[in-house]
Amino acid sequence: MNSQSKSTNAAVDPKVATRIPASRYTSTEWADLETQRLWSRVWQIACTEDCVPDCGDYWEYEIGPLSIFVLRDDEGALRAFKNVCPHRGTSLVSGSGRGLSEIRCPYHHWRFDSKGHFCGTEEDGVRTGRPGSMSLTSVAVDSWGGFVFVNPDLNCEPLSEFLEVLPKELEWVGMEQFGCSEFMTLEVPCNWKVVVDAFIETYHLHAVHPQMLAIADDVHTPITLYDKHTMFMQPYGVPSPRRNGDVSKQELWEEFIRNLGHRLGLSFASVERPGPHPPVPEGQTLRDVLVTKIREHLATLGSRYDHLDDNHVIDDFHYHVFPNSIFNVFAGWCGLIRARPGRTPHESYIDMWNFDLRPKDHPDRHPRPQVHCLTPDDVSSLGSVLPQDLAILARAQKGLRQDEDGLLRLVPAEARIGRMHEILDRYIDPPLDRRLP
Ligand SMILES: [Fe+2]
Repeated sequence: MNSQSKSTNAAVDPKVATRIPASRYTSTEWADLETQRLWSRVWQIACTEDCVPDCGDYWEYEIGPLSIFVLRDDEGALRAFKNVCPHRGTSLVSGSGRGLSEIRCPYHHWRFDSKGHFCGTEEDGVRTGRPGSMSLTSVAVDSWGGFVFVNPDLNCEPLSEFLEVLPKELEWVGMEQFGCSEFMTLEVPCNWKVVVDAFIETYHLHAVHPQMLAIADDVHTPITLYDKHTMFMQPYGVPSPRRNGDVSKQELWEEFIRNLGHRLGLSFASVERPGPHPPVPEGQTLRDVLVTKIREHLATLGSRYDHLDDNHVIDDFHYHVFPNSIFNVFAGWCGLIRARPGRTPHESYIDMWNFDLRPKDHPDRHPRPQVHCLTPDDVSSLGSVLPQDLAILARAQKGLRQDEDGLLRLVPAEARIGRMHEILDRYIDPPLDRRLP
């Protein structure tokens, strides 16, 4: 497998997997393999550094049956532990909190310091074991771009190695300066990989989100396959060739503002009423005008993006960080979608976090995010794209259950899905009859 290959939708690395067993999305046996061999051995985003800004702050991360908590220790260092008491196996924390001076098991009040060392039982000063002999189980922890990654395998590669070229390639964005106030979570009736698949290909745009064809070129969306991770770059502010040139300036303007009005600094209320499109000077396109307006907004955030070319000002740099994180990266704004397995192979959670670059003097520059669990009704207020995706996710899972011995077929525009499954095999090392054909 090439360590990195660039391609367009039309000419993707021919070595990428194109047939995927449906059972990977439906079988309990496969989900158990993922718990044992993927989630227990891979770097994954647990939270952001803003979730645990001060000593004693903690944040639980649940992935299928596994639970890990991140803790800022008494010296300000990030730590992560398996959420289990070495006494009788009770989970130690639930959710998130602040100001923890020690970790106390709720079952028998065994106590641990912020470095995970056993401090004794509730009886003052009485130690029931040697210090360190009953420490909490550490999990590898590191951060990049403001995101806290964990890996239960202490023998794992360094995070910087796992991320390959991504930190260098995304340096221009300055994600460590971004803030997010609300983590939205939604339970969905499909496998976690159905979620990832839907968010890493643009092939469904014409069928599921036809309104987006007025503002995005889903045909000329070059894909880059790294080793584990993948990306595509989607041009915005231009109509899809599928519309055969029938998009008016007014339609492009209205759809752009409805979907990406925040990139011009518009409030949610104003994107509901886009108004008439601005004048387009002789020799320019509406995309040029949009670029100018986005530049004007970015200038209010500081000088970070002063020297970007038009491509980086307006287009979508869309990354899949294996296995379950998808970054929709724009200058000054970034959306993260994280998929997590649920109780069965047919359920999962979508976490949606929206980040924006806030100026240095912004009063809420690095807020501690609140978690908000969404209901299906809440989703309808979040624009048209997400409800369209959710409706198709449920139907995808229902269909996958009809022929669990079947093979899915991928087209070149879905090469990122094929690559994800190849890397999944690397971690899972499945039995012969479960491998990619
Ligand atoms: Fe979609």
